[in-house]
Amino acid sequence: MKAEHVNKITVLGAGSMGHQIAMLCALGGFDTYLQDINEQALTQATDQLDGHMTKWVKKGKISEHDKEAAFNRLHTTTNLEEAAADTDFVIEAVVEKLDVKQKVFKQLDEIAPAHAVFATNSSTIVNSQIAEVTGRPDRICNMHFFYPALVMDCVEVVQSDETSEETAQLALEVCDRIGRTRVLLRKELYGFIANRILFALTKEAVHLYEEGYADFKDIDTICEKALNHPIGPFALMDLSGIDVGYYGNVQLYHETGNPDDKPAKSVEEKVKKGELGRKTGKGWYDYTKEGARV
Ligand SMILES: NC(=O)c1ccc[n+]([C@@H]2O[C@H](COP(=O)([O-])OP(=O)(O)OC[C@H]3O[C@@H](n4cnc5c(N)ncnc54)[C@H](O)[C@@H]3O)[C@@H](O)[C@H]2O)c1
Repeated sequence: MKAEHVNKITVLGAGSMGHQIAMLCALGGFDTYLQDINEQALTQATDQLDGHMTKWVKKGKISEHDKEAAFNRLHTTTNLEEAAADTDFVIEAVVEKLDVKQKVFKQLDEIAPAHAVFATNSSTIVNSQIAEVTGRPDRICNMHFFYPALVMDCVEVVQSDETSEETAQLALEVCDRIGRTRVLLRKELYGFIANRILFALTKEAVHLYEEGYADFKDIDTICEKALNHPIGPFALMDLSGIDVGYYGNVQLYHETGNPDDKPAKSVEEKVKKGELGRKTGKGWYDYTKEGARV
């Protein structure tokens, strides 16, 4: 199948990533169904997207007509069957837990047409681990977007040994249609490329903080000012959600059993306290004071 034959795209999970990926698909001309088990997540997603698109119109990035047309193509539902029964292409962006993703893919495999391709937006989990619960491993791949998806112009498309060339090429074409630079990785690897590099940096930053070599704010300052990184590792954890990296780490440790892969104590404490970053108003920094990072 070619991207020009893809009429309907289904995006599962309307959280930080899913709602923006769905908007990219709708802007790219696809009839898009955004599904979440939580009605409130869908309402919030629509409100946030309306805000983003209004800003885009004001900045002249899109016309009022483009905005209206995209919203006419964007549908939200809590019903998986409505979202996926006649879909051509699915992008899954539910929580970063293997068992949840497997459950979703199993249901999806029963509901979606045989020709439909499924992509997972997981930050770390290789697609073969999710594909094994379906009867279509050749039509499954990773499509790893970056946060915030409406801004970040890169997608890692990952093939497993079983992912067909046609599936990989279709995922790349979908990226082209939604205006995202894409890179094809032909070999599966936990965390892919960007996150492996980011994890190495974050792990060292947390280690230096936990050992008392520097405060987390100073580590961020050093990365931002001395290394010219646009954002320090602690502020970045807050931006993308401390829980997202944490669950990825839990999964890695579960797989390798290597004590080196255990989530860091300070990160685990944040997750247990529900201090997940910007989305909860507090993470490493406090965002409750007029949205500032303090
Ligand atoms: N946040 C990031 O920076 C980032 C970047 C790239 C990739 N990812 C990946 O994207 C995925 C989603 O991350 P997020 O940050 O958007 O998470 P999130 O917690 O913001 O959103 C997850 C959404 O999934 C919904 N959900 C849970 N179970 C579901 C189910 N069975 N069916 C439908 N919806 C369900 C939840 O209600 C929630 O709205 C994860 O796999 C994550 O690793 C995240």
